[in-house]
Amino acid sequence: MYYKFPSLYIRTAILFAFWAGVSMGTHVAFTIGFDFPLGKGAFAYIQTHGYLQLVGWVGLFIMGISFVILSRLAHFNHFRESYIKLIYILMVSGLTIRFISHSLLPYLTGFWYLIMGGSIIISSILVFLAIIIYILFLLSIVFHTSPIIKVPNRDIRYFLIMNIFGWIIYGLANVILLSTMVNNGQIFLPHGINLFLVDLFIHFTIFPICIAIGLRALPLFLKLKKVDWNARNFSIIYLIIVSIYFILKAINLLNDDIILINETYLLAIIKDLIIAWFIFKLNILFRDYKLNNRISKNISCSKREEFKIFFSNYGKFGHFELFIQSAFIWLSIGLFLDILLHVMLIQKIKIDIGIDGIRHMWLTGFTSLLIIGMSIRMIPGMTSTKKLKHPDRVIWLVRIINFSILFRTIYLVIPESILLSIPSIGIIALRLFGLSGILFMFGLLVFYYLMAPILNNNLD
Ligand code: HEM
Repeated sequence: MYYKFPSLYIRTAILFAFWAGVSMGTHVAFTIGFDFPLGKGAFAYIQTHGYLQLVGWVGLFIMGISFVILSRLAHFNHFRESYIKLIYILMVSGLTIRFISHSLLPYLTGFWYLIMGGSIIISSILVFLAIIIYILFLLSIVFHTSPIIKVPNRDIRYFLIMNIFGWIIYGLANVILLSTMVNNGQIFLPHGINLFLVDLFIHFTIFPICIAIGLRALPLFLKLKKVDWNARNFSIIYLIIVSIYFILKAINLLNDDIILINETYLLAIIKDLIIAWFIFKLNILFRDYKLNNRISKNISCSKREEFKIFFSNYGKFGHFELFIQSAFIWLSIGLFLDILLHVMLIQKIKIDIGIDGIRHMWLTGFTSLLIIGMSIRMIPGMTSTKKLKHPDRVIWLVRIINFSILFRTIYLVIPESILLSIPSIGIIALRLFGLSGILFMFGLLVFYYLMAPILNNNLD
């Protein structure tokens, strides 16, 4: 017997993003987009938004889904259910305390600063304890996995090991940095170190688990060609390149003298190309819908009919595949811009592509779309519901979220010289950036109401 699907993880991830994580980002984006002055709490808000989104939105989702999917993939079900509950309690209490106390911290001094500062430290310790227990689960999967999973084209264990490193470093570094911050009477973390950790978490924890689950589940769900290449070797190459890249970045961050800078940029390009190769091998961007449709329905029909079938047949899960395809399109655009940025850096040519925009293409675009699409496709099957109540709404959700990502990123990644060359475009892009968070929050509401009947059905 495998675990009952932990619906609470998913409900809480959505609610947390709506009420805490995204709403903080929305506040800051609105302030910038409509030319209001950034208050003294802005940096604390931005960092708390980043943390809550990474750990609360992405983290809770990944944890919730991985308890079921990784256990099934590895044929392992000996992790105690009480631990799954304990992780949930620790995570939710840690994240709630962080949200409240770090939002108030910038406005406090003396006694109340110490109380809120102390709460922030406690919150990071609670999350770190949750991470340690979660890692026990991941380690059980890595070490007790059944022999069929160990064949090279199915082996995702190195990705899980990277995932473990990412969680430990991000969780522990937050405990240390937040304690130092409170000890020094500050209200936010050193910018460079914090962003280094964010990028490390993206490349060690988020990307590997998305690739690992993608490798195993996407060919099945999207009727893609089976993975017939050596996934294990691929994961080892990714691990080596990403590790050297982050070691060099860390050396440069901690030293006053910058060393091997061009080599670091080059590694960033290689790392991007490796991920691009994965997208190419998965053949997800150029998937032939019409052919798939014809094959799956075993019919031959005219082009016009094929088109109609594709856009009218919502199936049990709606057009979830559009989420997954757009996720990979955002990932590809982000990779292309990141490569371009690093080529220009090597050539010492100034180019105005904001790394914040690229980061949001990977987080809001790729990761968030992928987890939404995968939840719509997988969670009904993991609960007793089996299908969505309103599959026709999925296509609306795809549009809302994609527009919000476009608004969120376009202002940051299109060089200012281009934006200013077309009258009013710069100001329109800035205003759309300001509104992007509100649109994303609306999308979260639609997502919540789409998933609520399924998640409610599975509650104890
Ligand atoms: C449309 C919804 C969102 C809005 C409006 C938004 C807004 C912002 C803003 C204004 C910043 C600060 C400046 C910048 O880095 O550009 C920021 C930073 C950040 N955001 Fe978002 N965000 C959104 C969605 C997300 C999502 C879904 C994630 C993660 C899955 C995320 C993770 C982050 C991270 C990690 C940072 C860096 C924080 C730091 O500097 O420490 N954001 N966001």
